[in-house]
Amino acid sequence: MTVSPRASIPSILPESAPFTPEQRTWLNGFFAGFLSLDTAVTPLSAEEAARLIPGIFDAPAPPAGPGDAADDEETPWHDPALPLPERMKLAESRTLRQRLMAAMAQQDCGQCGYNCRDYSNAIFRKQEERLNLCVPGGKETSRMLKTLYVELDKSPTPAAPAALAPDPAVTEPAPARAAQPGCSRDQPVEATFLSRTRLNKPGSEKETWHLEFDVSNCGLDYAVGDSLGVLANNDPQLVDAVIAALAAPPDFPIGGRTLRETLIDSVSLGQAPDMLFQLFSYVTGGARRQKAKALASGDDPDGDAACLDVLAAIEKFQGVRPDPEAFIEALDPLAPRLYSISSSLKASPGRISLTVDAVRYRIEKRMRLGVASTWFADRLNPRDKVRLYVQKAQHFGLPADPATPVIMIGPGTGIAPFRAFLYERMATKAPGRNWLFFGHQRRDFDFFYEDELAGMKAAGLLTHLYLAWSRDDAQKFYVQDRMRQAGRDLWAWIAEGAHIYVCGAIGMGKDVERALVDIAAEHGARSINETVAFVADLKKKGRYQTDVY
Ligand SMILES: Cc1cc2nc3c(=O)[nH]c(=O)nc-3n(C[C@H](O)[C@H](O)[C@H](O)COP(=O)(O)OP(=O)(O)OC[C@H]3O[C@@H](n4cnc5c(N)ncnc54)[C@H](O)[C@@H]3O)c2cc1C
Ligand SMILES: NC(=O)c1ccc[n+]([C@@H]2O[C@H](COP(=O)([O-])OP(=O)(O)OC[C@H]3O[C@@H](n4cnc5c(N)ncnc54)[C@H](OP(=O)(O)O)[C@@H]3O)[C@@H](O)[C@H]2O)c1
Repeated sequence: MTVSPRASIPSILPESAPFTPEQRTWLNGFFAGFLSLDTAVTPLSAEEAARLIPGIFDAPAPPAGPGDAADDEETPWHDPALPLPERMKLAESRTLRQRLMAAMAQQDCGQCGYNCRDYSNAIFRKQEERLNLCVPGGKETSRMLKTLYVELDKSPTPAAPAALAPDPAVTEPAPARAAQPGCSRDQPVEATFLSRTRLNKPGSEKETWHLEFDVSNCGLDYAVGDSLGVLANNDPQLVDAVIAALAAPPDFPIGGRTLRETLIDSVSLGQAPDMLFQLFSYVTGGARRQKAKALASGDDPDGDAACLDVLAAIEKFQGVRPDPEAFIEALDPLAPRLYSISSSLKASPGRISLTVDAVRYRIEKRMRLGVASTWFADRLNPRDKVRLYVQKAQHFGLPADPATPVIMIGPGTGIAPFRAFLYERMATKAPGRNWLFFGHQRRDFDFFYEDELAGMKAAGLLTHLYLAWSRDDAQKFYVQDRMRQAGRDLWAWIAEGAHIYVCGAIGMGKDVERALVDIAAEHGARSINETVAFVADLKKKGRYQTDVY
């Protein structure tokens, strides 16, 4: 065993073990804690470490060689916390189909209309030509897909669907459910917006809304744990600013609609796509053409590329006058947004509710507004119609046995599905115990649904409500810190068969998983191998489910 001078953490993992420096540092520290208890333990081999870790810490498994059908289930890049270069590295010795999958953001969020694997399969089979559908992956993913697509085009392998041999690893496109109204982004139904209520008190740094919709007349059916897909509109003020910057007529006809209508509900005015700069390079000259070309190929000549939404891009090339139709063609489609449903149909028939954080930030002089979240917060009026669909959860839902105890960890808006779980359990009189970990910035301003939760606690529905306020004290205090404090009781619940759920931001999800591993090790008095296997088993059995973004 060697000692790393920088961190003073013993280096237990072999240098060849496939981890990033951060993962290596953390794992070395983690293993060191255990090994100090057991002098007889020998360092792990790379193979042992890699076999133990995937699925637990979501660290990479060793590459499995060029074949792909046999190792199709091994997708070590399928971790939304890994940056794209790392995902591509993990997939570099794999087939083109698998590298296409590694280019996706790995959230399986469904915003593209597929999960990550099915989207890449559809591209591989040339059944899907749109390479810009991965919302969380953004430009990074679409650029990588374009690069890989060139390879696909050149590939001697027959790629046309008819010429492809049946491949059991390639799942079929979404089944009949997607064709039903309200079940996919292509078949939204019309619901009525009822109300919005601010969940933070004055003084909060956050702006979070509880939103209610009437779905009694549109036949929308959902289960708790599902998400709601929302087709929102762009801010008309932003649309008008774009039209003015182009000096284009707002009523310019585009496919039977006006330019203004198309800009409001059909295209993204977020980050300017490469295609837009390409278009600018055709209609400008000289140094501006070179700059547009550079931006179109992913270079950042002025260091401002990340700040260029569509309006800022037009302003950067002041006076640019593309044909309005070509301009629309160059933009990305406006993607639906997904929100965890925070209600239960069993408790509130005909209703659906969401818990939405408004996205607003300033770049230089202009406020940038999140499309859907500020549409909800500012522009929707009661009785307005909204286009919605249900995005079925993949492996995120209450246990089948209503007596099973559940532990729910959801800071911030991550509380949304758990409010739904609790109402469902109340409506169905489920006897299982319920434990909620909620946290946010400040107790006085950000205690979402405080009265409802107090009522549930008083009624005995909510067995435990454990809270963590991150900005009430000098030191940050998070849900995972509260979990550690309650480790003994948590362990007792887990030992009695509790299911564990985590919802919210990706980074939080990672940290919560680490806390759980620590708790299992400390209170379960387990060896490292047992702890790792135990948590992996929880996941495999569906007893540890996450919905993180
Ligand atoms: C399955 C799932 C469930 C979800 N559930 C919820 C939920 O319950 N509640 C909820 O509030 N959200 C939820 N989200 C997130 C939600 O879908 C949207 O991504 C979010 O509301 C932002 O959408 P928007 O249209 O308002 O913003 P967009 O127009 O999409 O803008 C957001 C983009 O703006 C940029 N941005 C944001 N802040 C900054 C900043 N400070 N500086 C620079 N750039 C910035 C980022 O590129 C970001 O991607 C969920 C997501 C998924 C995938
Ligand atoms: N199903 C989903 O995928 C889903 C559901 C709901 C929300 N979301 C998305 O998640 C994002 C965050 O939502 P939000 O505004 O509600 O939360 P948030 O403001 O980012 O954070 C909520 C609380 O979590 C704390 N926190 C920050 N980092 C943490 C960490 N590593 N571990 C534990 N706690 C941590 C925050 O503390 P500090 O800020 O003080 O550090 C704060 O107290 C939003 O973009 C939202 O759209 C996704």
